[in-house]
Amino acid sequence: MFQPDFAEIAERQPAAWTDYLVPQDWAHFTAEEHGVWDILFARQLPYLGTRIVTPFLHGIPRLGLDRPGIPDLDRLNDRLEPLTGWRCVSVPGLVPDDAFFAMLAERCFPIGNFIRSADCLDYLEQPDCFHDIFGHVPMLAHPPAARLMQAMGRLGVEAVAAGLGETISRLYWHTVEFGLAREDGEVKILGAGLASSFGEAHFAIEADVPRPRFTLRDAAATAYRSDAFQPLYFVSDSLEGAACELEALDLDELRALAG
Ligand SMILES: [Fe+2]
Repeated sequence: MFQPDFAEIAERQPAAWTDYLVPQDWAHFTAEEHGVWDILFARQLPYLGTRIVTPFLHGIPRLGLDRPGIPDLDRLNDRLEPLTGWRCVSVPGLVPDDAFFAMLAERCFPIGNFIRSADCLDYLEQPDCFHDIFGHVPMLAHPPAARLMQAMGRLGVEAVAAGLGETISRLYWHTVEFGLAREDGEVKILGAGLASSFGEAHFAIEADVPRPRFTLRDAAATAYRSDAFQPLYFVSDSLEGAACELEALDLDELRALAG
């Protein structure tokens, strides 16, 4: 499989986000790897059933994600693109923040072109295609979430260039990845990091852990953990409300939030 040389790309001035893309080459996935997807899917969806925001659940069948095996991105895009204009693109692994946000700004969502091994179902050094597809893509079929993600991308590009990458990352992390949101008065899972994690989905909803109300100011002031469960989970008043608030944010306001 083609692997780009990230060090060489980073030396290019400026590096383009398209430099990080690779073909998915769906046929390279083995039967065992498709089996890992099926195990993860069968374990995760029943738990999420009553605990995740409704648009996520609607997105699964609309996008054909309830079919067995690792999704073929071409087929997935055939369903996703007509709904919201988003497309999934394949990358070898984590990409730098500036390229990541530039992809989101173009309504392209990067999918890690690998899956965890069967003996490591719960440990991930990098987000794999189960996290990226199962966790994120159902929400991309929902117009408010689709707009939110593009807005985060556009602001993220500006923020990284202005030295505010940590602040925009905190807002992203506390909503898109590890956020909770109220729906019909109940606290539900919103973020992809929770939706795709068996252990942390349980922890965020059931454990005795702080769940403060989401505000831009508090989320921007709160560091996150990338190596452990979060010490707290912000609860947005609603998915749509959080989307509107984040869509309206500009660089000056982000700078003010950064203090
Ligand atoms: Fe993610």
